[in-house]
Amino acid sequence: MPPKKINKENEKNNNKENFVRGRFKEDISDLTADFTASLDIDKKFAEFDIEGSLAHLEALFKAGLIKENEKDKIKEGFFIISKELKLNKFNFDKRYEDIHINIEKRLIELIGAAGEKLHTGRSRNDQVSVDFRLYVKNEIKIIGEALIGLRIELVKKAQGNIETFLPGYTHLQHAQPVSLAHHLLAYYEMFTRDFIKLNNAYISADWLTLGSGALAGADFNIDRELEAKILGFGKVSRNSIDSVSDRDFAIEFNFALSMIALHLSRFCEELILWNSQEFDFVDIKDEFTTGSSIMPQKKNPDVLELIRGKTGSVISGLLSLFIMIKSLPLAYNRDMQEDKKPVMDNSETVYKSLEIFKDIIKTIEFKKNNMILQLDDDAIYATDMATYLVNKGLPFRKSHEIIGNVVSYSKDKNKKLSKIKINDYKKFSNLFENDIYDLFDAKHSINSKKTYGSTSLDSIGKMINDYNDEIKQDENNKMFFVK
Ligand code: ARG
Repeated sequence: MPPKKINKENEKNNNKENFVRGRFKEDISDLTADFTASLDIDKKFAEFDIEGSLAHLEALFKAGLIKENEKDKIKEGFFIISKELKLNKFNFDKRYEDIHINIEKRLIELIGAAGEKLHTGRSRNDQVSVDFRLYVKNEIKIIGEALIGLRIELVKKAQGNIETFLPGYTHLQHAQPVSLAHHLLAYYEMFTRDFIKLNNAYISADWLTLGSGALAGADFNIDRELEAKILGFGKVSRNSIDSVSDRDFAIEFNFALSMIALHLSRFCEELILWNSQEFDFVDIKDEFTTGSSIMPQKKNPDVLELIRGKTGSVISGLLSLFIMIKSLPLAYNRDMQEDKKPVMDNSETVYKSLEIFKDIIKTIEFKKNNMILQLDDDAIYATDMATYLVNKGLPFRKSHEIIGNVVSYSKDKNKKLSKIKINDYKKFSNLFENDIYDLFDAKHSINSKKTYGSTSLDSIGKMINDYNDEIKQDENNKMFFVK
């Protein structure tokens, strides 16, 4: 058995002095107090807890359960507590296990008996649910704005690199030439879908669950519509058991965060590769890199590596929520106290990752000449050559085979495709003419793409216009105001 380890503060002040010990003959042990406390985590809910309480207060008043002078007193008390919180003067008291009891205790300390009426018609189960929802809605707005910031930078960077050409890769091998703008905007698309995921999580969090009591509903005439209006919830939850049991909104938010982290991680991986001597496609600003303690020449892309590295813990946070809830019978179970840390940690990690990554994108330089140098290997135009023969009437499969033979010949003879003489081309098919040499050009290849969403420069230009409109719309609506 390891020695007992309880932090000093808890040793003195465990949460034995609790609101809810009425039916017990004995106090909980120090170990239990320490083990069950959640204050260190849920203290982040403080302001939301007050917001929720103020709404509950109005409903109690409307139901005639609290007199006007009591209401005013309670409001005054909350005003003082809010101020203490803002000035960092609030004493988070370890004797009380969570933020809800901390604030209620402080209220009673400040205003006396009136404060003892506040918990009428409420349980910590609906209280924590509504606090968590308010918190998640607020975080979604913060992450959403950071995401818009990154999308703006991506479009700007793309705009400046429409005529920067590089090999597009499949299997990390040269596939077909693309515009760098098109490559960057692929990430724009991912982050835009993530923005929609955030919005969906917001919609899930946007149900008012206060007024559900412990699980069965409240015994008083609590006007839940009024509470929803005060707190800015779009909808009033329809089933009190579901209201205190469900954490879908937190999982959905965490899923959106995980997808953002995943997309960032993939992008980082690519930039790390591009930063290697082998690719040498990018110059990352010094402020985002570090040196080595032994190798003087090193300039390491640590920030990118850390964003990629932190993605593991973000995803595990999502998994921990899935696992926490998967076997819980209805309704509230204390396991659910573990739901906050992964969400809070992930939100902070993803926010910081987004902000720093946005700055990296803003300042990164792409080495256009090194990119175009990679297109020197003109086998990358083989698909365009196959299209050439199709345009001259050959079925694609046949044309694919002929170009395959040409490529094999070029490898055998160690001769670039663009250097093979026309007479030699004609040995493979007499459809080859002198215009075959027009194909060995990145811009020509890129602009020969005709489909919606392709890398052709026209298509990219149109997309950039659309994206700029889309961003403006998202900025104005913030989408999150959808009720
Ligand atoms: N600290 C608890 C949590 O975060 C608050 C709800 C407590 N409810 C209860 N029935 N013990 O889940």
